[in-house]
Amino acid sequence: MITCSAPGKIYLFGEHAVVYGHSAICCAIDLRTRVQAAKHDSFIIGSVLGTTGLDLEVHPYVSKVIEMMQDYKRIEGVRIRIESELPVGSGLGSSAAVTVATIQALNQLYACGLQLEDVAGMAHSIEREVQGNASPTDTYVSTMGGVMLVPERRKLKGLDCQIVIGNTGKFSSTKELVSNVAKLRQEFPEIIDTILGDIGKMAHIAEEHVNRKDYGTIGKLMNVNQGLLDAIGVGGAELSELVYAARNAGAISSKITGAGGGGCIVALAGREDADEVFRAIKNTGAQAILTRNTHEGVRMEP
Ligand code: MEV
Repeated sequence: MITCSAPGKIYLFGEHAVVYGHSAICCAIDLRTRVQAAKHDSFIIGSVLGTTGLDLEVHPYVSKVIEMMQDYKRIEGVRIRIESELPVGSGLGSSAAVTVATIQALNQLYACGLQLEDVAGMAHSIEREVQGNASPTDTYVSTMGGVMLVPERRKLKGLDCQIVIGNTGKFSSTKELVSNVAKLRQEFPEIIDTILGDIGKMAHIAEEHVNRKDYGTIGKLMNVNQGLLDAIGVGGAELSELVYAARNAGAISSKITGAGGGGCIVALAGREDADEVFRAIKNTGAQAILTRNTHEGVRMEP
């Protein structure tokens, strides 16, 4: 039996813009999805969603991984158990983490010889098949860990501030949100392209500030990015409530992370303010999670 885990992620900058080839800065977080895989005489996939066989409705990512791994080794049966600290459909990269951890678990169990770049590449093609237009960002960062400028794939210095996440609890469909932005762009190409380009520029400007750990400047830019996400229509009242609760409680910055619509916000906070930010988010009735950046991507668990 093999257990592998992979981390979730937050976007400091660049969600949606990255779909159009602009730059983004993404950061792996210390909330992981664990996948246990054991050879078996049939296919069994178990998670909080239930226990199924190969099932593209309930367990689309894991089922697709098993299907694709058949190109490397013949798998006649396997028992998979998934446990996750990442809320599903909330913008924290839960689908990337489960896909990456499952690929690596089967890679190890069947000695397929895949390298990390192969794992990330396969995970991206599975995300694209399941959810349509997905950038390689989530799967790459979940595989490699750390803080990453994409699509350049430059590893930046790690963040050592506190990361507070606020989860609205409202399910958010990445596919739908990405498609809404595409429609708005079709209607107002000059305006939306300018905004998406500006978001990408922000990621480039922020790169050196991340490397210098200049949280004040990173924070100002993240707050501007939040305004632009609102402008392209992926915000909402629940998200704004959390964004301002965090800022009023002393967060360095706060913004939507991921596709928006529902899902999560991320706030950066100094050690002395993190508890207050956490409490302020909780007081709105939302789920609050305190976490940190992790340099570890996909890994084998003991
Ligand atoms: C979703 O986590 C981030 C988006 O930019 C979509 C993607 O990059 O595939 C909205």
